[in-house]
Order: sequence, then C-alpha cells, then structure tokens
Amino acid sequence: MHDGSGRIVVEGLSKSFGPVSAVQDLSFTVRPGAVTGFLGPNGSGKTTTLRMLLGLVMPTSGTATINGLPFHQLPNPASVVGAVLDAQSFHPGRTARHHLRCYAAAMNVPDTQVDRALELVGMGSAGKRKAGTFSLGMRQRLALATALLGDPQVLVLDEPANGLDPEGIAWLRNFLKAFAASGRTVLMSSHFLREIEHTVDQLVIISRGRCVFDGHLDELRAAQRSRTLVQAADPRKLIEKLHAAGLSVDYVPDGRLAVTGADSRTVADLALEAGIALYAMQDERIGLEQLFFQLTHGQYTGVQQHGAQAAPDARGFGGTA
Ligand SMILES: Nc1ncnc2c1ncn2[C@@H]1O[C@H](COP(=O)(O)OP(=O)(O)OP(=O)(O)O)[C@@H](O)[C@H]1O
Ligand SMILES: [Mg+2]
Repeated sequence: MHDGSGRIVVEGLSKSFGPVSAVQDLSFTVRPGAVTGFLGPNGSGKTTTLRMLLGLVMPTSGTATINGLPFHQLPNPASVVGAVLDAQSFHPGRTARHHLRCYAAAMNVPDTQVDRALELVGMGSAGKRKAGTFSLGMRQRLALATALLGDPQVLVLDEPANGLDPEGIAWLRNFLKAFAASGRTVLMSSHFLREIEHTVDQLVIISRGRCVFDGHLDELRAAQRSRTLVQAADPRKLIEKLHAAGLSVDYVPDGRLAVTGADSRTVADLALEAGIALYAMQDERIGLEQLFFQLTHGQYTGVQQHGAQAAPDARGFGGTA
C-alpha cells in the first residue's frame, strides 16, 4: 500500500542510453504543499527523469517513488499522479469532452469527472469544440485536464508553460499555486528560470544529468549579488589593491575587472589611494538568470536570446583573478 504522503523521492537515479549518460546519480525529494520547479538546460535529463518517475523508462540504477512506491506498484495510479509529458497529440476530429471521456473510461474514472476537469482548466465552454481547432495554449489546457481526471494528489508536468502566452502562464501559475496550497504536490520542469520564477517555491536544478542545486527559490535569490565592472590603466596593480582590501576580483572576457562585494564608489576610492587611473565603471547585478548560467556552466541554449555577454560573465563570476 502506498504511504499517502504525496512525496516524490528520487534516490541515486541514473540512466544511460548506450554511451550517453542522460541522468547520473540524481537524488531529490519533492514535498506536498509547494510547487517544485525541475530546471535544467536542454538535454540535461529532465524528461528522462520524469519518464523514469512515471515508469515509462527503466532506470539503469537507483529508484524513483511516489508515495513510497514505484509508479507501476501504485494501486489506482490515476488517483495518485496525473502527468503531462511531451506535447500531447489529440485526435483532431474529437471534441475536448469526447477526448476526456475516452481517457476517463480507460482510467476507470466516472464521467462526471470530465466536466469537472474541463471547468478546472477554464475550458467549460469549449467541451464541444474539436481538439483539431485548438490553439497551442488550449491543447496544453486539455492535456492538463486529462491529467486531472483522476483527481490526483500529485501533478507531474514536463514544460507545461512551453508555448503559452503571458496570460496563459499567469493562469497556469495561479492554478498550480492553488493546487499546491490545497496540500498537494506539483513537480514541473522548465529550461527557462524566468518563466517559472514566480510559480515555484522549491527548485531542483540539474546540469548534464546531475543535481547542481536543491533548495528554496529564496536561497537562490539570496545568492544574487552586485558587482562592479571597472576598466583600469593598470589592472594588475588594481587587483593587488583590491585583494589587499579583501575584495574578490575576476577578469571578464573584454579585459575589464569584475569586483564583487563593493560598489563603484569604494572601488574608485581604492584606485585613487593607489594612484591608478580608471577609464570606465559600471555597477552590475548578478541576477537569478546569471546564477542559473553559472550553476549549469553556461551550457544554456537560450544564450542568444539573452545577449552575448550573459554566459561569459556568468562563467567569470565566482572565481578570483
Ligand atoms: N530514447 C533515447 N535514446 C537515446 N538518447 C536519449 C533518449 N532519450 C534521451 N536521450 C538523451 O539523453 C539526454 C537527456 O535528454 P532529456 O530529453 O532527458 O533532456 P531534457 O532536459 O528533457 O531536454 P529538453 O529541455 O530539450 O527537453 C540527451 O542527451 C538526449 O539526447
Ligand atoms: Mg525534455
């Protein structure tokens, strides 16, 4: 019998596809009452992990359980976990209600749940429309309605915000927060921190199949800091002076120095004391997205969208010159 805790526990989970190590010794726990984001760049192993959790892929080693049991041992799994993986394909000629009825029958769920699920995802008036006429946002909602048919305790969603417009993302955020606030569990993946920043409470960040952060979003926020970029006539001499003042300094790729832990005024005063001319200064905040770059070693494929500077800066941040 499952323990009814609503907890997801991943322990020492690994999966190799031939020579490709998709997931490596991954461990984390997802608790009820919160929305947990499962974050990582493209190809970092998110979908593979979720598929192992849902019994669709056999782990090479380790375990993934829901309510203390592997998925295939759950009695009445539809009432324990609802999942949306991949972009769901719907029979284009079937209405939303017909689609849900087919699934309800397969899950042994009463037909009354169909209208309830449609209402829950804000599609109460679209039940008679054919799925083939739905926008991407509506298809996402219909997929979510399918996952909700069994009135599950746990929701597992792979990139549910993908393709949603800002209004859709806001709707999903409110829905998932309310679902979690009712004491249930949400695990949602994304490759884009900003997309889920206002939705999640907890974060598990993976890179190349390994966990690089597991904690509350506030812990990551607390790690945000400011730094000052400075172009000096004599960088080596300035580094000596800044080190002597206990400050940490990096080189950024364009040759400027990045000083962490001091504002531009402090840096200017120290340079003046040492008699070093400064040509340019700029205060910069290391934001969440840059921390994410750093944690995942800048292998984020969205680099182009965020400007050429984002990834190299993040790589430089943290070390000392
Ligand atoms: N069935 C498979 N056969 C071979 N390799 C696979 C298979 N499934 C996944 N992989 C590989 O495993 C790694 C992790 O893939 P996965 O789809 O889990 O990443 P992801 O984090 O979900 O990426 P994305 O953000 O692009 O969805 C990738 O290198 C991928 O090519
Ligand atoms: Mg994926």
